[in-house]
Amino acid sequence: MSNQRVNKAVIPAAGLGTRFLPATKAMPKEMLPIVDKPVIQYVVEEAARAGLADLLMITGRNKNALENHFDKATEIESALQLKGDVGRLSQVAFSNSLANIHYTRQGDPKGLGHAVLRAKAHVAEQSFAVLLGDDMIDARDQLLPQMLDAHQKYDAHVVALMEVPMESIHLYGSAAVEKTEDEGVVRVKALVEKPTADQAPSNLAVIGRYVLKSRIFETLENTPAGRGDEIQLTDALAHEAAADKVFGVVFSGRRYDTGDKLDYLKSTIQVAVDREDIGDELREWLKGFSQNL
Ligand code: UTP
Repeated sequence: MSNQRVNKAVIPAAGLGTRFLPATKAMPKEMLPIVDKPVIQYVVEEAARAGLADLLMITGRNKNALENHFDKATEIESALQLKGDVGRLSQVAFSNSLANIHYTRQGDPKGLGHAVLRAKAHVAEQSFAVLLGDDMIDARDQLLPQMLDAHQKYDAHVVALMEVPMESIHLYGSAAVEKTEDEGVVRVKALVEKPTADQAPSNLAVIGRYVLKSRIFETLENTPAGRGDEIQLTDALAHEAAADKVFGVVFSGRRYDTGDKLDYLKSTIQVAVDREDIGDELREWLKGFSQNL
């Protein structure tokens, strides 16, 4: 049992986003909008809802758009104030009041493990959450609060797991697990980064939410570059799992991998059809559209 409350989150957003070129040539993929909000804002809102008030964003060479998005936009705010557009004004102001956001650069994007290691000085001795900046969890589904509870109870690293079709497991880390007394919480016995279907221990894939103990920094420092010559967070966690120090929360809600083109389009539609302002009209249009396919 840990009595330490987690209040810091690290949000890696320094990847090259090659799957989304040319859109990501001059803009981070985390700034792509889902309807009218960049993906990164959904992620920051999720962290804030879970009570994580201190965020460290790991950014790359195109960091300006990310920083500007969470900064005060005086010019836009004054224009909306003059027009008396209170609705839009509060939406614009909302994004810079969500949390206390700090930024650091990754330098060369040498993998997710390398990005997380950049948070060492900021996080110091505390446990912390990691939310991948291009991975969205639907606000109606709970994941992070359950992970924080599991972390507190087991005083261990916690990863988020989700069942995926076996033919997609090569895109993820795959976990070998054992049940615990808690419904939806498993002990992770082994982790393999991006295995082929026949080498995967299960179809439980590691998705982009973690609650980590600060011990991970030392493990990452001793983790050699792996797949793609990058320092993989999964490799460091595999090492920890071998020592029985990793748990998993199995998620069955709505998750959107916005770094992938097809998933990005599906995400936009899934979020949009449930929006109060445009949902009904979009549903009607989609019905007609699908009849002509
Ligand atoms: P991805 O695995 O999707 O990699 O990163 P990527 O390089 O950004 O994308 P592609 O494959 O070239 O299209 C998952 C998350 O980790 C961050 C990314 O920004 C994303 O939020 N990341 C990845 C880093 O911060 N640094 C890295 O070196 C790699």
